[in-house]
Amino acid sequence: MNVLLAGGAGYIGSHTAVTLIEAGHNVVIVDNYDNSCEEAVRRVEELTHSTIKHYEADVKDHDALDRIFKENDIDCVIHFAGLKAVGESVEKPVAYYRNNVDTTLTLLETMKENNVKNIVFSSSATVYGAENASPLNETMKKGTCTNPYGWTKWMMEQILEDAAKADDELSVVILRYFNPIGAHPSGRIGEDPQGIPNNLMPYVSQTAVGKRDHLTIFGDDYDTPDGTCLRDYIHVMDLAEGHVKAVEYALTRKGTDIINLGTGTPYSVLDIVHAFEKANDLTLKYEIGPRRAGDLAVCYSNADKAAEILGWTAKRNLEDMCRDSWNWQKNNPNGYKK
Ligand code: NAD
Ligand code: WQD
Repeated sequence: MNVLLAGGAGYIGSHTAVTLIEAGHNVVIVDNYDNSCEEAVRRVEELTHSTIKHYEADVKDHDALDRIFKENDIDCVIHFAGLKAVGESVEKPVAYYRNNVDTTLTLLETMKENNVKNIVFSSSATVYGAENASPLNETMKKGTCTNPYGWTKWMMEQILEDAAKADDELSVVILRYFNPIGAHPSGRIGEDPQGIPNNLMPYVSQTAVGKRDHLTIFGDDYDTPDGTCLRDYIHVMDLAEGHVKAVEYALTRKGTDIINLGTGTPYSVLDIVHAFEKANDLTLKYEIGPRRAGDLAVCYSNADKAAEILGWTAKRNLEDMCRDSWNWQKNNPNGYKK
């Protein structure tokens, strides 16, 4: 199958590219490198001993996408292309709505014009909002989001569902990711945040490598066993394998399916700190700080639907996630930059 990865040079896209190629599929990448770089694509080529057709283009650019569809016989699109920093989305809401919603609309328009009928979409657990209690399952109504990033995911899900209702031939698979961490076991590709990381695992690994002085744990007074927040961390290679199953599934049916990709097992912030120290035989400097605005105490998936529909469950454990995150960070202290 020929799969177009929109935003395929990014963290999840690059790991998915490796896994798709290893499963025998052909991959085409389009990315504007807004939050990534061509070096990531080069390393995917190195890992897979293959040449990947890739385009530097904005997914909002109708003519560029039209050309890509015309030059490649695409069977399925995976739509990773988006801005994803929650805090930044509060400061720059218009840029987030413009980029995230418009990429989705442009993809749907150019897919229709080129008779491409299958799309897998990167959504997020954030659409469950605060109203739903974990374990979160896909039959729960979408909740109230606390930031523009979350609303863009909420809206894009709605747009995709409406597009599928209006076109009997369209197949939409919406994947709601929980908290992806880890890296390819080779240490050649991984998460490369620009500036100060917003997310826990990059902050932990940058603290371990000495780029940050210490980790601040955002609150230890939540109603959880150790007082720190619980999340559903999932290894990015498991997530990548979920995408292979999702594109293969997309081609077998029509309409919309929404599927959680998580492990179903919650871990606390302190669990992550201690697992990282143990897996990598090091000590992390950390202190307890105030709560971060907008954080939920508990967020984890019910992962049954992915098992039933896709035949997929996460295989890697917390130790694997911590070991592979550190392997990437220590071998690439400045990310993809030399
Ligand atoms: P990422 O930033 O590493 O990858 C996104 C890629 O999209 C980047 O390479 C970026 O350059 C590209 N991009 C952005 N706007 C573009 C545009 N207009 N045209 C072309 N390329 C564009 O992020 P990621 O962690 O790999 O996330 C991939 C997707 O999954 C995103 O949509 C994100 O919102 C979603 N998601 C991520 C997480 C997470 O924690 N990482 C969780 C849930 C959902
Ligand atoms: C995890 C836990 C923090 C940093 C975000 C988005 C969500 C999805 C995944 C895209 C929380 C704590 C963090 C730090 C800390 N992304 N923490 N110190 O907030 O669960 O989810 O990424 O869709 O939409 O909101 O992930 O990694 O930021 O935080 O104590 O320096 O780590 O409070 O409990 P989060 P995270």
